[in-house]
Amino acid sequence: MPFFDPTIKPSDVTPQAVFENRRDLIKAAAAGTFGLALAPWFSRQAIAAVPEKLIATLNSAYTPKEEVTPYKYVTSYNNFYEFGTDKADPIAYAQSLQTRPWAISIEGLVKKPITLDIDALLKIAPMEERIYRMRCVEGWSMVIPWDGYSLSKLISKVEPLGSAKFVEFISLADRKQMPGLKSNIIDWPYREGLRMDEAMNPLTLLTFGLYGEVLPKQNGAPVRIVVPWKYGFKSAKSLVKIRFTEEMPKTSWTQFDAREYGFYSNVNPQVDHPRWSQASERRIGDSKGVFAPKIKTQMFNGYGDQVASMYAGMDLKKFY
Ligand code: MTE
Repeated sequence: MPFFDPTIKPSDVTPQAVFENRRDLIKAAAAGTFGLALAPWFSRQAIAAVPEKLIATLNSAYTPKEEVTPYKYVTSYNNFYEFGTDKADPIAYAQSLQTRPWAISIEGLVKKPITLDIDALLKIAPMEERIYRMRCVEGWSMVIPWDGYSLSKLISKVEPLGSAKFVEFISLADRKQMPGLKSNIIDWPYREGLRMDEAMNPLTLLTFGLYGEVLPKQNGAPVRIVVPWKYGFKSAKSLVKIRFTEEMPKTSWTQFDAREYGFYSNVNPQVDHPRWSQASERRIGDSKGVFAPKIKTQMFNGYGDQVASMYAGMDLKKFY
């Protein structure tokens, strides 16, 4: 049996109760009701019933004590402009995206450039589940259980040269499969970038799944980046290329409007976007509903302990 069959939806093979039970367990994990010890057991139980599940071990270092955003919101309120600019477009139009076969090339200033098939990429390092806070520059946020491994594990395999200072991430741009490419709102393909130390930071996750299942197409299948201390647009989806460069790469949103979107894009409540305040955020799918009060946005989205030292001495109002 293949590792997962993209033609079978989890709902085709999984009784709803198994789904709901799994989400309750993840919520319990996030609330600290049980710890790391139970997580592998829980993963193994679920894989028996759901072949396309990813075996991932919950990493208890990344389980914020916050309500996890329900699966239905994580997978239906999306930004993926290749499929349209409305939040409901990706779930409606991404389902025909062919995520197999899928190759990703890792190139540029490295000793060992390589093109990897998605199956080979999946096996580079053990899969972890990490529950990350994610904040969009538009002023909303979610708490999402992602499945993947630190990008640094892949980077060390290709041995970057000393001259490599940045990493560029390039998404698929295929007019035949992606109706959103008809619009030139973005200079396709979608591109993002990180400084080398940011890419090597253990928090930066090469991501293959969410909620213990392979990534839904609208969330960037079959592989994407997740950078939890930066605004959501830094987390490029459906990657086909990772390139190491000496110069700072041009990113899609900086090209769109450099005044609105800087290269760093760290979550920073003190630097407002010209159109949206960044001081607070609305949690999507909060159980308190539309009456839930807005949450104060934290510097680096609450990940300062792990990332602030990378920006010591930098004026973060200038390098936004
Ligand atoms: N990646 C690509 N290729 N195309 C996009 O339009 N949107 C970005 C980012 N990655 C985007 C992308 C933005 S603006 C956000 S907020 C996040 O994806 C949303 O990820 P999610 O839909 O999984 O929450």
